[in-house]
Amino acid sequence: MTSSNTLTVIDNRTATKYDLPIENGTIRAMDLRKIKSGPDDFGLMTYDPAFMNTASCRSSITFIDGERGILRYRGYPIEVLAEHCTFLEVAYLLLFGDLPTPDELKTWVNDITHHTMLHETTKRFMEGFRYDAHPMAMLVSTVAALSTIYPEAKDIHDPANRLLQIKRLIGKMPSISAMSYRHSLGFPYVYPDNDLSYPENFMNMLWKMVEPKYAANPVIARALDILFILHADHEQNCSTSTMRSVGSAHTDPYLTTAAAAAALAGPLHGGANEAVLGMLDEIGSKENVPAYVKKVKEGHGKLMGFGHRVYKNYDPRAKIIKWTAERVFAVTGRNPKLEIALELERIALEDEYFVSRKLYPNVDFYSGIMYQAMGFRPEMFTALFAIPRAAGWLAQWQEMITDPEQKIARPRQVYTGQELRQFIPMDKRARALHAKIA
Ligand code: ACO
Repeated sequence: MTSSNTLTVIDNRTATKYDLPIENGTIRAMDLRKIKSGPDDFGLMTYDPAFMNTASCRSSITFIDGERGILRYRGYPIEVLAEHCTFLEVAYLLLFGDLPTPDELKTWVNDITHHTMLHETTKRFMEGFRYDAHPMAMLVSTVAALSTIYPEAKDIHDPANRLLQIKRLIGKMPSISAMSYRHSLGFPYVYPDNDLSYPENFMNMLWKMVEPKYAANPVIARALDILFILHADHEQNCSTSTMRSVGSAHTDPYLTTAAAAAALAGPLHGGANEAVLGMLDEIGSKENVPAYVKKVKEGHGKLMGFGHRVYKNYDPRAKIIKWTAERVFAVTGRNPKLEIALELERIALEDEYFVSRKLYPNVDFYSGIMYQAMGFRPEMFTALFAIPRAAGWLAQWQEMITDPEQKIARPRQVYTGQELRQFIPMDKRARALHAKIA
């Protein structure tokens, strides 16, 4: 008798019936390989451009229910973590699976704090960038350059060695981001201050001028920490998949993290927060919102900060950001762009085009407005995203490295090119032969 937990497939080419096991709502793509039209057939594959319906791994780190707008790290709702935890506590949770005890947290914070310094050659490396270099390009390149400082990071199979590199990366991400920011302003670099918390130290490295000791505004520091928590992980998004894919080649964690950060830089992913500000600038005022929305609906551009591959309800992170923004604005004053953003959200959420496509504000819609009110320039926004996401990337990388089912990531393709062709000597080639090469 056929088990009820199977999928029965009949190949009409051969009238053969196959029973494929169903596990966790999936069938194994490799089970399709035995479905062949004849002995020389390679076997069936799935075709899934952009991985719309393919699970590439098992993961116990982050759970998302996109239909219901739920996000949990290791089982804890994002709202609870944002209210009660610090970012470093959450980074520990992502990496080790449980919230730290007070002693574990003390050691963890101490370890991260003692890995915030950059080697002086790294500082000199960053000085070589042009004055107007984009902070994300500087971040990607500098994280990759850390591979030259820590060659032992190649030993990815030693758990203690892996943990050391993880601590270094989480410790150094704010230092590199802050240096890239200071570089673009022509200000001298500020070294880390171990007395300060993770977000306060980041603020210190960004904004300390001539005062002997930097005193961070507690509301801004807490808001930054909450933003870090919200951005720490998001299961198999584009940059995390890049982390797993590049890491599957056993590349060291610095080069792998740089690759993930490069994916994050794109405007359809983490770069959207910077693009949102550009869009709000272009709209200019509340009155221009309807005309802008009309333009988008006619196919001219997208509403940046709207839509998500997984969330087809409200992005729960956007809700927390909106709530945190009010506290920040109480200190910094309201960002005038908020009015435009609120109007844009209001109009879009009443519009059939956006409603039918389930397009809601995502995490990037309000984060940029808040970052700008805090004093960041838009070019810096994506680097602010990369700092906490490094913890998620590294947790996912570690899970991938220790998963016995994982191998080097290597998708298949459906070849659509020429069959075997006859070589044409140079003097016989006509221009028309090349016309199709694009
Ligand atoms: N504005 C207008 N229309 C949109 C938008 C948008 N922001 N997003 C999607 N649509 C439309 C598409 O044109 C498509 O319409 P169609 O069915 O008529 O062709 C439909 O909605 C479905 O969109 P897809 O592009 O198929 O959705 P996909 O899951 O591939 O893309 C993505 C998701 C990339 C986030 C997309 O919504 C987008 O480009 N948004 C703007 C950029 C952005 O905010 N990115 C940040 C995402 S969050 C993050 O990465 C941290």
